[in-house]
Amino acid sequence: MLEIADITMRFGGLVAVDRASLHVEKGSITGLIGPNGAGKTTLFGVIAGFLKPTQGRVIWQSQDITDLKPHQRAELGIARTFQIVQPFQGLNVLENITVGAYLRHHRAQDAIEKARAVAIRVGLEKDIDLPASSLTVAGRKRLELARALATEPKLLLLDEVLAGLNPSEIRDIIPVIRAIRDDGVTILMIEHVMQAVMNLCEQVYVLAQGQMIAHGTPASVCNDPAVIEAYLGKGAAARMAQTGGAHA
Ligand SMILES: Nc1ncnc2c1ncn2[C@@H]1O[C@H](COP(=O)(O)OP(=O)(O)OP(=O)(O)O)[C@@H](O)[C@H]1O
Ligand SMILES: [Mg+2]
Repeated sequence: MLEIADITMRFGGLVAVDRASLHVEKGSITGLIGPNGAGKTTLFGVIAGFLKPTQGRVIWQSQDITDLKPHQRAELGIARTFQIVQPFQGLNVLENITVGAYLRHHRAQDAIEKARAVAIRVGLEKDIDLPASSLTVAGRKRLELARALATEPKLLLLDEVLAGLNPSEIRDIIPVIRAIRDDGVTILMIEHVMQAVMNLCEQVYVLAQGQMIAHGTPASVCNDPAVIEAYLGKGAAARMAQTGGAHA
C-alpha cells in the first residue's frame, strides 16, 4: 500500500533521515520504533507531505506522491496524528472531530453525523459537548485519533498516541486501535510503549540516527543485537549475552 524508498531528509547540516526505506502492507499494523531523535516523526512528515524529502520517493498504491501537498494526500486516504496534540481549544470535542469530517462531507449535517460516529468508535461519546481544552491527556489522545479517523483514511499514521497514558489507559486503547484496523484501515504507528507494539504490530521497523537498522516481527527485532545497541549503547548486546540479559 505504501512504499518509501531511500528517503533522506536534511535540515541544514543535520541528516534527520538517512536513506530510509519501508513498506506497509495493506490491512496490516506496522510499527516504527527507535530511540528519541531517530527521525521517526520526520519520516511521518515526509509520508504525509508536510516535509519535502531531500532525496527519495514516496509511493502510494503504485503512484508516486512525493510531490503532492498534504491535503492531496489526505484526499487519497493518508491521515496522521501529531505527537504534540493541539486540538482547537475554542471548539468542543464534537466540533474538533467535525473539522476532519469536512474533508469528505460538504453538508454540515453529514459531517456532524460522521463525527458522532467516530466519537463513539474511539470512546469519546460522553465527552462530545466538552471543550477540547478540558480533556485529560488520555482524552486528548483519543480526540487526536478521532480527528484523523474522521477524514476516513485508508492509511492512518499514529505518532505516539499512547505516550503519557497510564497502564490502564493503554490497555483500554489497544483494542480501539485493533478495531480500527479490523474495520479496514491500515495502520503505521510510531510507538515507544513496547507492550503495545508486541500486542498490535505484525511487522516492526527500527530507525536509529536516521537509518533503518532492522525490520521484522516484534519478537525478532527485540532480540536483534543492532537494535539492543541502538537503545542501550555499544557493547550492550554482548553484555546481555554474557549475563543472560538480566544486568546489561
Ligand atoms: N524542522 C526541523 N528543523 C531542524 N531539525 C529538526 C526538525 N525536525 C526535526 N529535527 C531534528 O531531526 C532529528 C529527528 O527528529 P524527530 O522528531 O524526527 O525524531 P523522533 O524519532 O520522532 O524522536 P522522538 O522519539 O523524541 O519523538 C532530531 O535531531 C531533531 O532535532
Ligand atoms: Mg517523534
